[in-house]
Amino acid sequence: MADNYLEKKMEAYLAPSQTTRKTKTSLKQLLRKNRSHRGYDPKVVVRKEHLLDIVSVATLIPQACNQQHLRFKLITREQAPQLLPMLKFGAALPELHLPFPGTAPEAFIIICGQSETKLTYMDLGIAAQSMLLRATEMGLNGICIGAFSKEQLMEAFDLKYPPLLVLAIGKGIEDIRLTTIRSDEDHRYYRQDGIHYVPKVCLDDLLL
Ligand SMILES: Cc1cc2nc3c(=O)[nH]c(=O)nc-3n(C[C@H](O)[C@H](O)[C@H](O)COP(=O)(O)O)c2cc1C
Repeated sequence: MADNYLEKKMEAYLAPSQTTRKTKTSLKQLLRKNRSHRGYDPKVVVRKEHLLDIVSVATLIPQACNQQHLRFKLITREQAPQLLPMLKFGAALPELHLPFPGTAPEAFIIICGQSETKLTYMDLGIAAQSMLLRATEMGLNGICIGAFSKEQLMEAFDLKYPPLLVLAIGKGIEDIRLTTIRSDEDHRYYRQDGIHYVPKVCLDDLLL
């Protein structure tokens, strides 16, 4: 009986659990899915709890000198219409005036800095990408928006520290595809037949 017990234990230990099988998404798959969306499904409401979950990754990430100078302001659908016109989407496609009417994001995370040094900006990149990966893992999408007036946002939302980056969060509705380019080719994203293409420099050309 004892042998049987151990055998069963070992079998259970070696067999991949149901949860592992179900949720196994590789980091590369997540990175591929994590595209910058400029159009969102208005039927999918992003609540404060979702934003809190996304921001909670900030308690897990590396930060230079462990300084943790970033602070986060959560914006949900009540305040979103006030923030939206202060942000610039899709500078490379000005003729489209993105986001299209009825597809604007209704949730945002404003990332502010208690300092604005080179290290703060490094921390900002780590935090922003980690949060977008978490949003992707949750079945949502997002985009970093750096084009805004710091002064305007600070005043409008009574921010204690300067805003460094805004993340829009929602359920993306765009068909976004990556293409591979050489480093001397055009890097600009473009749209063709409703599909958004994002060129990425091939690995060979990234190596020194
Ligand atoms: C720091 C940063 C700032 C950005 N600011 C803007 C912005 O102001 N407006 C915008 O439409 N996209 C912005 N983007 C999104 C980029 O345009 C996008 O990452 C790029 O086109 C590549 O697409 P991908 O994220 O799907 O790979 C920003 C991205 C980063 C990382």
